[in-house]
Amino acid sequence: MKQYFILTLFPEMMEQTLSHSIMGRAQRDGLISIKAVNIRDYTLNKQKHVDDYPYGGGAGMLIQGQPIYDAYQSLMPQAAGARVVYLTPQGRTFTQGIAEELAREERLVFLCGHYEGIDERLIEEIVTDEISIGDFVLTGGELAAAAVIDAVSRLTPGVLGKEESFADESFSDGLLEYPQYTRPPVFMGREVPEVLLSGHHENVAKWRREQALLRTAEKRPDLLAKAALTEKDRQFLRGHGIEI
Ligand code: ADE
Repeated sequence: MKQYFILTLFPEMMEQTLSHSIMGRAQRDGLISIKAVNIRDYTLNKQKHVDDYPYGGGAGMLIQGQPIYDAYQSLMPQAAGARVVYLTPQGRTFTQGIAEELAREERLVFLCGHYEGIDERLIEEIVTDEISIGDFVLTGGELAAAAVIDAVSRLTPGVLGKEESFADESFSDGLLEYPQYTRPPVFMGREVPEVLLSGHHENVAKWRREQALLRTAEKRPDLLAKAALTEKDRQFLRGHGIEI
């Protein structure tokens, strides 16, 4: 069973967010376990404050090192040796490749910051990885941690059912996914592409590959430049005026 620990000021938010749908089922099935620890439970002052003013002045408050460190220690020995991922806009930008890398770990600790940040010495002491989910600023790391845990968990064998398979999904081969259709055959006057109704598997596969190539070229040309393309793929793209 994969074990994910979260250090946060909002444990209910994390447990709630990750309790639905596939993530909820994965936990009930014992494939992953998620334990959120409230940093505030480890403060040593009566007022339960976890934050304080930054030395040197400036706006905002920082979370102190002590309550986070003690919350982290409370996870021992279960989380001993586990990588500690701090969610921060300063981190490596999260990708499917990083999700695959983290999915190989049996245990992970996620650290969610709030306010203006966290005392740097705590980061130096326990954090092994800094991850950002994009070039924008959230009010806290919780939604970022939920996104990372979701993306990592679904790569654990058994978490996705057969019908939720990820064989052809976006990024699995460096391309975006082809368009998909379900019943009825005509919706709002728009028809399902004929080849998909033909029952001709080879033609369907060829059409899907071509659509994935065209979509990626149109929406994410940066991905196309890095994708593993065959000579046939390149020929097809050239035929559509796309040079790579
Ligand atoms: N915390 C605040 N903003 C963030 C972001 N973009 N990614 C990860 N953690 C964050």
